[in-house]
Amino acid sequence: TLKTAERIKQKRNEALLGGGQKRIDLQHKKGKLTARERITLFCDVESFVEYDMFIEHTCTDFGMENQKFPGDSVITGHGLVNGRPVYVFSQDFTVFGGSLSSVHATKICKIMDQAILVGAPIVGLNDSGGARIQEGVASLAGYADIFQRNVLASGVVPQISLIMGPCAGGAVYSPAITDFTFMVEDTSYLFITGPDVVKSITNEDVSQQELGGAKTHTTISGVAHNSFNNDVDALLHLRNFMGFLPQSNQFPIVDERDFFEIMPKYAKNIIIGFGRMNGRTVGIVGNQPKVAAVKAARFVRFCDAFNIPIITLVDVPGFLPGVTQEHSGIIRHGAKLLYAFAEATVPKLTVITRKVAVMGAKGAVTILYKGKPDIDKREAEYIDKFGSPFPAAQRGFIDDIIEPRTTRWRLCRDLDLLETKKLSNPSRKHGNIPL
Ligand code: COA
Repeated sequence: TLKTAERIKQKRNEALLGGGQKRIDLQHKKGKLTARERITLFCDVESFVEYDMFIEHTCTDFGMENQKFPGDSVITGHGLVNGRPVYVFSQDFTVFGGSLSSVHATKICKIMDQAILVGAPIVGLNDSGGARIQEGVASLAGYADIFQRNVLASGVVPQISLIMGPCAGGAVYSPAITDFTFMVEDTSYLFITGPDVVKSITNEDVSQQELGGAKTHTTISGVAHNSFNNDVDALLHLRNFMGFLPQSNQFPIVDERDFFEIMPKYAKNIIIGFGRMNGRTVGIVGNQPKVAAVKAARFVRFCDAFNIPIITLVDVPGFLPGVTQEHSGIIRHGAKLLYAFAEATVPKLTVITRKVAVMGAKGAVTILYKGKPDIDKREAEYIDKFGSPFPAAQRGFIDDIIEPRTTRWRLCRDLDLLETKKLSNPSRKHGNIPL
């Protein structure tokens, strides 16, 4: 009837306004877009299909029964990005600070379940004050449901988090489990306990940004994979990034961008990212794996999970010696990378661009000729003996010595050949990567 139709329209309009114009204005004043504006920018024009727009929270304490917003504090659904389906949730800070009620969790779980069934990536746009304080443990149980799905979806469909506001306490674990976490500079932060708690427990003075802002997580902690200037910049980069990803572990990659670097500001001694070879996406690992082993290991495992061939550009003079290195677990971290490469069954191509050695020539002769004269001469001898591709080529450790300008052509040819590579590791519950 007309009355029902009117009611639907009215509720829909209410839902579109989230927490109301005043809070939308506040959001804009902070330099942030609203949850809906973000979805509009991220998805192809008019492709977003929303679910659960009429859901309401179920809390009846603290006068909450009189404060309801249709759809509650998250917008969920699916849309297209560059023509390909993606499931999205976007937390609405204008409704109870985007806090996670049990229905908020239910909405997220619904799209995660569907994404796994359909085989499409899951993108989370995070902007939330954490657990809905008025709901208490019901809210925490909602997190548990989401974490469980994050783990089940891992390696099945790509999961990406973009942190666009607060993300604190237990809320951080969902982004931490996802494959890639990006942040917006200045307006987002990610920490387990905020500056006030830190101050009260350890008496350290630290700002929100120092503790868990984009700079901290992309340069020091390695928790986030990249950061962007503002909401618009971040969402457009995310659209571009999606082009490199497969829909799920059942599909090949498809798009044709050039290079999207992951974690450019963290552990700069190793470069990882996606590139393209004859239209096919490949994971590229470059430079020397010192402390950067963990960064590379996680990337190698992502590529392997989604059948993306890995090209490794090697330039390794040996391990970086030092007390700090040993104390910070260089053995364990190096082992992660070794494990990741060894368990990967995708095509693996390696180009040695410069050095591969047990150790540098100087270190080697210092040990071999300890206390002997003419160390400099010995060093030159050592370089002459080992400083070329021949020792490796003569023993068959490398397949060929190639001219630099033929590299791309050679790699493309080998990727074509290896397209049908079939290799599976022994069946087991799961391996035990050195964590
Ligand atoms: N549960 C319920 N409501 C919440 C909330 C939560 N976890 N977090 C924020 N809100 C509400 C606020 O009450 C406020 O409501 P109002 O608009 O009706 O006044 C609104 O969201 C905006 O929050 P506000 O504090 O005004 O925004 P801010 O930008 O100044 O600060 C936070 C943002 C996230 C730093 C701050 O809200 C905060 O510390 N929230 C609690 C975080 C927390 O400890 N969560 C629980 C544990 S995981």
